[in-house]
Order: sequence, then C-alpha cells, then structure tokens
Amino acid sequence: MAIDQSPIVVVDHLSTTFRTPRGPLKAVNDVSLTLERGSSLGIVGESGSGKTVLSRSIIGLLPTQNVTQTGTATINGSEIIGTRHKDLLKIWGSEVAMVFQDPMTALTPTRRVGQQIAESLRINLKLSRKDANLRAIELLRQVGIPSPERRARAYPNQLSGGMRQRVMIAIAIACGPEFLVADEPTTGLDVTVQAQVLDLITELRAKSNLTMILVTHDLGVVATRTDNVAVMYAGRIVEQAPTASLFARVAMPYTKGLLDSTPRIDAPSHTRLSSIEGRPPDLVNPPEGCAFAPRCTYATDECRTVRPELVRSTLDANHLFACHHPLNGHQASSSLTENK
Ligand SMILES: Nc1ncnc2c1ncn2[C@@H]1O[C@H](COP(=O)(O)OP(=O)(O)OP(=O)(O)O)[C@@H](O)[C@H]1O
Ligand code: SF4
Ligand SMILES: [Mg+2]
Repeated sequence: MAIDQSPIVVVDHLSTTFRTPRGPLKAVNDVSLTLERGSSLGIVGESGSGKTVLSRSIIGLLPTQNVTQTGTATINGSEIIGTRHKDLLKIWGSEVAMVFQDPMTALTPTRRVGQQIAESLRINLKLSRKDANLRAIELLRQVGIPSPERRARAYPNQLSGGMRQRVMIAIAIACGPEFLVADEPTTGLDVTVQAQVLDLITELRAKSNLTMILVTHDLGVVATRTDNVAVMYAGRIVEQAPTASLFARVAMPYTKGLLDSTPRIDAPSHTRLSSIEGRPPDLVNPPEGCAFAPRCTYATDECRTVRPELVRSTLDANHLFACHHPLNGHQASSSLTENK
C-alpha cells in the first residue's frame, strides 16, 4: 500500500475572534502551519498568548457562541472551520484525540474508568459490550496502569493525578487516532509523574506514528520531545523552527525572554514562563506594530509602527521569525508570510 506523504494538518491564515463585552478579542491572529504525518509540534508562549484557542480551533473544539473564524484548517483533507458539530464528532472519535490539563474535568466522576473507556470503543468502533470491556482493560495495561482489571472498576477520584492522566491517554488512544492534541497534559503533576506521562506519550507516538501538538509552558518539555516548536505571542506565531534550531539560535527577543526564564532547557523542568518584564498586551486593543514592542529592549520606532511579518531566516529556511531586529545573525530571506 502506498504511504500517504501529504501533511496531516494544514492551517492557513486562521484567525479566531471572540465577541466580548469590551469588543472583539482576536485570540488567534492569522496563523498558518503544517504538520507532517508522525511529526510533533510544541506550542509555547506565556499565559493568554493563544495556545489553547489555536489548538482547539484546529480541531474544531471551541464554544459555538460569540466566536467568528476566518481562514482554514484541515485534518486529513477535511475542513474543520465552519463544519457542524455533528460532522466533527466523526473526526473527533476516530482521527483526532485530545488530552487536557485536568483529567478530573474530562472524566465523569460517577462512572468507573473502565466503563468510560469502553463507552468510547462501543460508540466509535462499534465493539460489543464484552469486547469493549476487555479492550478497555488492555488499554489500561498499555498505558502502564498496574492491576488494570481492578483499576477498571475504580472511580476517577480513587486514582492519583498521574493515574487519571494515564486513563485520559487510554481514552485518547482507544480508537487509534492519527492526531493527538495534548494541552498542558502534565501541568499540576509532580516532576517524576510528569516525566512518566510524557514518556508514555512519546512511546505511544513512536508505536503508532501519531502526529502530535503538545501545548506547554515548559520549554524543557519541548526541548526533548518535539520536532518543531511554534512560539506564540498575542495570538500570533512569532517564531517557528525545528526544535534544535530554535534552541541553538533563537531569533525573537520574546523567545529569548522565555528561554532565559527557564532555568534548565536541556533537562525536564517545570518552571512556568512568567518572568519577562511587563504584561502581555490587551487583545481587544492590541498595539500597532510589533505586539511585543512595549516590553522589548530592542524596540525601535519601526517596531512600534510596522507589524513584522513571519519570514524565513537566511540561516535556515525552516526557521521563521517575526521581528525587525532578529538575534544571533538571523536575517529575513523573503517577505513570505506563508510558513509552509
Ligand atoms: N471563550 C472565550 N471568550 C473570550 N475570550 C477568550 C475565550 N477563551 C479564551 N479567550 C482569550 O483568548 C486569549 C487566548 O487564550 P488561551 O486560553 O488560548 O491562552 P493560553 O496561551 O492557552 O494561556 P494559558 O497558558 O494560560 O493556558 C486570552 O486573552 C483569553 O482571555
Ligand atoms: S520587532 Fe522589534 S519590538 Fe518586536 S521583538 Fe523584534 S526587536 Fe523587539
Ligand atoms: Mg491554555
């Protein structure tokens, strides 16, 4: 059988705007990106930079009220933006899976975890009750839960945080998805458990060529576990690069600020990235020019008036940045805003 070489996810000029009492709030602003099959992309940025709204926009998982979207996002060629909830359900169950920060909010507290996994199998894979129950136990074993037969009968609050996140991962992989979105999957877990859960995700990805978006505050996590990194600020991708290139030669002063506020980038850390001076801009009234200018020590008048486009670097065509005065010898090789 021929191997499908086409990218699994293609996002093109995607914007997501919320209607708020203070006016329109553009949480995702003209984002384009492509994910090759089996690749992993880390999305990093300060709180409120748009990581969650972007990743949820890509899979169509946003509130339906007070949201407008422009641009496109396809998964395996199917358009997500503007598609009805009913049609998205088919994609969510089979092709796309999600793991979020707090498994307690995603699990039903009154139902045994085995039942919750089995239900997804019965709905999406049409398994019989008996087969679904057996498969649920097998999945619990696969995600490293000891005594899975016994644990399948437990309620979520009878499990530790790490175990609950393993259950969420079991539910996520139950139907053999091709694309996994993990939004801060280990925030709130202690460091050892965090590493175990991330190792588990890495192991499962390798086994099934799973494509992944990993949203995290923690640059230590993306340094060792993703192929590419996209850095978000004020709803835009402001730097994007193969992970090694980003850590070797950062281009954006904002990304440098994030790196400088992470004590150890080559080892797991769990430092929240919050120590850049100043505050992110108000997305209802964003500044003209570069949104980072009010906080940037390199800012010039040009920065304050002309918005820098995302361009390729002369040093590496896969390293993109949006900055008038890039660091480390980067220069713009073209004015293309496309990053494909
Ligand atoms: N339903 C909503 N209605 C209005 N504004 C929203 C809504 N959801 C998110 N926002 C706003 O969109 C912006 C981006 O939020 P988002 O949750 O994507 O940030 P984030 O990068 O994931 O932050 P964190 O690291 O804290 O999770 C923020 O300004 C947030 O207040
Ligand atoms: S464009 Fe200017 S203000 Fe923005 S990050 Fe680059 S140097 Fe700083
Ligand atoms: Mg978030």
